[in-house]
Amino acid sequence: MQSKIMGEDERRRMIVRLVKKSASNKLLQPPPGPPGWPLIGNIFDVGMMPHQNTHKLKAKYGPVLWLKLGMSKTLVVQSAKAAEELFKKHDLVFSDRKILDSLTACDFDKGSMTIGRYGEYWRMARKLCSSELFVQKKISASAPTRQTCIDIMLQWIKDDSAASIVNGGGSGEIQFDKYLSLMTFNLLSNYVISRDMIMDSKFEKGNEFYEAMNNLMEWNGIPNLVDSFPFLKWIDPQGIRRNAEKYLGQLMNIIEGFVKERIQEKLSGKEKKTNDFLDALLEYNGKGGTDELSERNVIIIVLEMFLAGSETTSSTIQWGMAELLCNPDLLRKLKDEMDQVIGNSRKVEEGDLNNLPYLQAVVKETMRLHPSLPFLLPRNAMEDTKFMGYLIPKNTMVLVNVWAIHRDPDSWDDPLSFKPERFINLKIDSKGQNFELIPFGSGRRSCIGMFLGDRMVSLSLARLVQNFDWKLPDNVSPECMDMREKMGIALRKLVPLTAIPTERKF
Ligand code: HEM
Repeated sequence: MQSKIMGEDERRRMIVRLVKKSASNKLLQPPPGPPGWPLIGNIFDVGMMPHQNTHKLKAKYGPVLWLKLGMSKTLVVQSAKAAEELFKKHDLVFSDRKILDSLTACDFDKGSMTIGRYGEYWRMARKLCSSELFVQKKISASAPTRQTCIDIMLQWIKDDSAASIVNGGGSGEIQFDKYLSLMTFNLLSNYVISRDMIMDSKFEKGNEFYEAMNNLMEWNGIPNLVDSFPFLKWIDPQGIRRNAEKYLGQLMNIIEGFVKERIQEKLSGKEKKTNDFLDALLEYNGKGGTDELSERNVIIIVLEMFLAGSETTSSTIQWGMAELLCNPDLLRKLKDEMDQVIGNSRKVEEGDLNNLPYLQAVVKETMRLHPSLPFLLPRNAMEDTKFMGYLIPKNTMVLVNVWAIHRDPDSWDDPLSFKPERFINLKIDSKGQNFELIPFGSGRRSCIGMFLGDRMVSLSLARLVQNFDWKLPDNVSPECMDMREKMGIALRKLVPLTAIPTERKF
């Protein structure tokens, strides 16, 4: 009898709590934001450069912004304090992804860890990648391959520059983006599938991979009406999904070739001892259900390492070089540091990176001003949530505008200037603990490749600076360099960087 009465009391208290919570949620409002147009909402406020335009709205509406993009409710987080509350207090609720229509092409989202929904499959894939691909021991063991890929890129730059003078009577200038993309593809392909993706001259499909990747990234940079008006999905008015289908299909075919070849080698017993990520994926002992890794999902996970890791890395290196060429004094300072620490008898190695504080500061400052994913990757609210005193309804798309956070005068002195010196003696790292600087995101869905990405950027920049003296083309001066941005999968430089290399003698 006693326990029945207590049970009823408990139930009554629970009902009162739920009623109070729902009443208090009802009292809460969504965050402030500009009034939208009927039907289209704030689509024009956001425009083609959404990170810049929402940043402008911060002055009027504050650090937590509410937008309606057609039918899609959107929260934009634009200060370190708001990002801290999001990642520290509500990380789980916001660990789901909002899936953009273009990436549902070829059912890519169903096998992807990067853009996949939060759940069993994502947990299994993330755990597998953390233990097989991104452990420090494996990253360090692969350092010699990274040096080789960078050596090849430097040789290529040297040869092409010389050839342009000899054959074309040109100035010897080179355009960075191509070399950086090819180098990062090879670096990742050696890491993931133990072979060159591009520079192996016998591999004819290399250029097809480069072209398809470039096209896919371009198409993904275009804001898609279908994401705001899902009922347009079947029309695909901008053709974005059709193009994603084409280029993702090409890329998946290429990766499928590698996967089938490896399976064949295993079956025939002539397997080379690669012991790489692809082996780990193929050997994963699935237990059925969501733990199952089908061949298709293996292909998607391998491909997504290129999608997530290549342009983010190569565009960061390009922005870093652009900032250094814009600021010749800083370039000289970096060169001096390397000459002092490394000397002139050997090349920089990964083991040297900890002894090069100015280089580390240059890398952080590059990622501060040019975060390659300015909104991170879109998150999705899994339930109604009280955030910073506002109500964020279930299924809201959540964008963290790191581009705005990294330029916030409340966090940074003279935020628009490139000043690596600010990081000397400042204990701020970029790996998700200091919310003023989160180029790799934070929390459960933060970048799984951050340590690898950081090393790739640091070593490539160091070697480009150590190996060559760089001069801008005659018609460009440091003061008038075009530093405008363009959206791709990552934030690109609108006008690709060009410069003239002269090899330094050791
Ligand atoms: C400079 C280089 C890089 C930058 C700036 C970068 C940045 C990011 C960012 C901002 C996110 C989203 C985080 C979030 O939503 O909170 C992300 C996710 C991810 N990145 Fe990176 N990344 C880089 C390199 C790499 C590399 C080299 C790889 C792999 C080879 C990689 C693999 C991934 C994956 C798989 C995810 C999805 C994680 C998940 O959803 O669980 N990234 N990255």
